[in-house]
Amino acid sequence: MDALDVLNQEHRHIQRVLEVLERSVAKGRDGEFVSASLFLRAANFFLTFVDGSHHAKEMVLFQTMVAHRLPLAPGLLAQVSGEHGTGSEHAVAMLCAAEAMLRGGETDPSRMLDAADDWLRLYRGHTGVEEAQVFPMARRLLPAGILDRMRTRFARIEASHGSLAEAAEAMERAFAPVPAGRLFPRGPVCSF
Ligand SMILES: [Fe+2]
Ligand SMILES: [Fe+2]
Repeated sequence: MDALDVLNQEHRHIQRVLEVLERSVAKGRDGEFVSASLFLRAANFFLTFVDGSHHAKEMVLFQTMVAHRLPLAPGLLAQVSGEHGTGSEHAVAMLCAAEAMLRGGETDPSRMLDAADDWLRLYRGHTGVEEAQVFPMARRLLPAGILDRMRTRFARIEASHGSLAEAAEAMERAFAPVPAGRLFPRGPVCSF
């Protein structure tokens, strides 16, 4: 697995978190209870693992593409790098809104749901551009030895943040509703 495979695989892990968050936002919009602590965890996942780890790796790729003078569309890397910053702003807004709800100062989840929606909308388009325009060009034009060295730098970034894959799985489990059959132990509970 080379550096670009790592980034593509991380997109799939992040995608699964987007799906559980999106379902939670839809529930909140329908007036159902949504857990502010789960939204707080999701915001922390975005800041630590998406921004701190995945985006840090992508910045290594982008800088390498610039250094090798790859024929990128004008403004493309500025756009995707800028979206990393905007994504962090949405994640911070989501974190602050969730904290306000947990402190009891805020009872309406709209601000938290809006921030989550902003993040979801931005990230889907962002990932699409990277996979359609940035990664294929890097795959075509960067030498294999460069991708190998990049993989080593990615490993260092991953080591300082922890595993994005494991964090994404933990997020999915946290958001997943408990199946009805697991709410109570199987078999008779009372002996009378
Ligand atoms: Fe990105
Ligand atoms: Fe990405």
